Amino acid sequence: MLISIEQVLDADELRDFRARLATASWQDGARTAGTLARHAKRNQQLDDADPLAVELGNRILRKLAGHPLFVSAALPRRIYPPKFNRYAGGGTYGAHVDSAVMQLPGSGDAMRSDLSATLFLCEPDEYEGGELEIEGAFGVQQVKLAAGDLVLYPSSSLHQVTPVESGERIASFFWIESLVADEGARALLFDLDQSIQQLTPAVPAGDASLLRLTGIYHNLLRRWAAT
Ligand code: NI
Repeated sequence: MLISIEQVLDADELRDFRARLATASWQDGARTAGTLARHAKRNQQLDDADPLAVELGNRILRKLAGHPLFVSAALPRRIYPPKFNRYAGGGTYGAHVDSAVMQLPGSGDAMRSDLSATLFLCEPDEYEGGELEIEGAFGVQQVKLAAGDLVLYPSSSLHQVTPVESGERIASFFWIESLVADEGARALLFDLDQSIQQLTPAVPAGDASLLRLTGIYHNLLRRWAAT
């Protein structure tokens, strides 16, 4: 399942992010690719330890923690500190699958990647190419969202970023370990939660059926969540 979340960052935040990232110390992205992906990766990234990446990453995490749609869709247990990349001058990242287990920077802990996220920081008309192409059960989907919007997709899916032929494409990307590892179970919980949210204003407070549905949501989550 592919879920778009609009306006994670607003116009003021985007302006600030873009101004700060315009003078950032971009480095060759191939340095951080796994051995399989290295040949396919032609972009630039900020070092994980770069204070700017840490600061902006923390700001993104704070926004997401209070975002009901993100929490409902991802049911996050752990989130890899957001990274930043830049594609320009034909930069591309060929088809690959993200690593399944990742070492969290600055800790001995490892996390499993269930969901991959891309937060677009440039408007689609600022660059040519640079589509995020994700292979799913219904074929290949091309994603190129407005600045400030985020896409969530299964980390298990084959995906690529097509060459950026002109302009520049700056984005943040990161991974989420979900409380619910199984994608199908997580999709059912998301549907149920969204339905409950839509029904809530339409029925009287304390409606017995809505209470039961809410109970079912929590009891399924209790059954499926690994903490
Ligand atoms: Ni990837």
